[in-house]
Amino acid sequence: MLTLNTRRLEGFVVPGELDKIFPSVLRAHDFLHKHNGPGAGFTGWLELPSRIQDSFIQETLSLAAEVQRDSEAIVSIGIGGSYLGIRATAEFLGGGKLPIYYAGHNISSDYLHRLLDSLKGKRTTVVVISKSGTTTEPAIAFRVIKKFLECRYNGEELKKRIICVTDEKKGALRKIAGREGYRCFVIPDDVGGRYSVLTPVGLVPLAMAGFDIASLVEGARKAQAEYALCDLEKNACYRYAALRNILYRQGKKIEVLASFYPEVFYVAEWFKQLFGESEGKQGLGIFPASLIMSTDLHSMGQWMQEAERTVFETFVEIDKPHNDVIIPEDTEDLDGFNYVAGKGFDFVNKKAYEATSAAHFEGGVPNMAITLCKADALHLGHLYYFFEKACGVSGYILGVNPFDQPGVEAYKKKMFALLGKR
Ligand code: PA5
Repeated sequence: MLTLNTRRLEGFVVPGELDKIFPSVLRAHDFLHKHNGPGAGFTGWLELPSRIQDSFIQETLSLAAEVQRDSEAIVSIGIGGSYLGIRATAEFLGGGKLPIYYAGHNISSDYLHRLLDSLKGKRTTVVVISKSGTTTEPAIAFRVIKKFLECRYNGEELKKRIICVTDEKKGALRKIAGREGYRCFVIPDDVGGRYSVLTPVGLVPLAMAGFDIASLVEGARKAQAEYALCDLEKNACYRYAALRNILYRQGKKIEVLASFYPEVFYVAEWFKQLFGESEGKQGLGIFPASLIMSTDLHSMGQWMQEAERTVFETFVEIDKPHNDVIIPEDTEDLDGFNYVAGKGFDFVNKKAYEATSAAHFEGGVPNMAITLCKADALHLGHLYYFFEKACGVSGYILGVNPFDQPGVEAYKKKMFALLGKR
């Protein structure tokens, strides 16, 4: 389902280094599986895939059928973990039955204005997602969008067009939902924002938009079983976590998640939140960055090839695309590209990957590749769990609590002071 190729680490990671780091991996594994490490209260994502009830999936799918019958657009309001997994999944899979518009992830007035403009005349259902229920960006966007809906609908019709995903008891959103009688889905207490894509945070809006949430969960269940054992040879997820720490200790402070598939763009954004918030603390942490090729080969390619050698690269490859496009023969061959006529775009794309990975390696950038057999919901669910567990293990190897994010509060305090919040 997923393979990890590490041949282009040769010379950077010497034999024996995995054995040396193994005790830290084992400690991380025990912290996670015994739920007794730092931040243990937020490790519920570990068994989450197998805990998801089929009855919950059925309930969500019947809500989705109702929404799809009565709507032409969905607005998903949320930020960080309450936004990125939804967008990553929707953009990776493409299609869906209803378009998703996103709000609450920025405070740009022009953005919101354009969004409201494009909703005019469209039957709309809103899903507002916030674990804390108090985050400024989605809260104020929800105020505006709620008013917008109130101008068009009332009574039961209005009520059924607002769906909340939040904490079971706490937070302003829970209070509003209770007061107004909105339908509400619960985010488990023991799963933090950036680990929440497989909770109602991701599953409810994605089902509403017509994505295959059952396969997403199934893929994660397979990953949960596959990455359960602490064995660096058999467990690719642990091997990846260990290798990135070995590279970090050698001064490779930046990890670039790179892909030749543009549908990976938001998966990389999700990855950056996952690893950035989990590891970037106490003066430590690999800086997670991302590049989408070939676009970025013609901008950041220079940097990757020749800049400061403080970077390693992890490619996300897709073995079999859904469709291929054949390059046509041209009788005159004025552009000189008949030498690839008859070949598929995917053939050329894969050669571009091979060439880039070799060139970067020779230029001093160790790189690995995670290859998914297919770009579908099953494989994406698997990849989400792979990265979540790798992140938990990697954070513990690094020596931090991978499940808190104290630094996120700093800007909020200053912003509240500037806004005059009492
Ligand atoms: O990882 C986290 O916990 C945060 O980045 C949150 O996802 C983000 O701040 C949104 O929080 P909430 O869902 O409480 O509105």
